[in-house]
Amino acid sequence: MITTDVKQEKLTQFIKGKKEEDLIEILHFTQDIYNYIPREAAVQIAKELKIPLSKIYSVNTFYSRFNLYPKGKYCISVCMGTACYVKGAESILNKFSDMLGIKVGETTEDLLFSMEDTRCVGECADAPVIIVNNIVYRNVKVSDVPNILADIGEDIHE
Ligand code: FES
Repeated sequence: MITTDVKQEKLTQFIKGKKEEDLIEILHFTQDIYNYIPREAAVQIAKELKIPLSKIYSVNTFYSRFNLYPKGKYCISVCMGTACYVKGAESILNKFSDMLGIKVGETTEDLLFSMEDTRCVGECADAPVIIVNNIVYRNVKVSDVPNILADIGEDIHE
């Protein structure tokens, strides 16, 4: 595991000589090493590039691929597009939320699970759909949620 100091040093080296127009590239690099954009890193980037911190947060908010909080090892994305929504996606999302004790956009304390909602993922014929990392679960029912989490649990303990 890379320690925070090592990560900070890597970021410091990467930023050297960079300019404001390199901000997106720097944020990608930061997310690659930390798995999200920590506030300390955002402050460091703002200082090095001599730009306001708010500029970094506005870019982060605009580009949804940048995470402001650590993501879990398993990211559960529940499709909330129309086809999935009318077939009960909200109940599925609530079941995951109840079982994991987190809401959309949050991560469990053990950093194992994150939850997010997503727009249509193009699998409407098999709605409702959820994606765990890159595995697609189709025609999901609320009653499937415990089994899906149990499957992931087995994967964790392998
Ligand atoms: S609305 Fe969920 S896959 Fe299209």
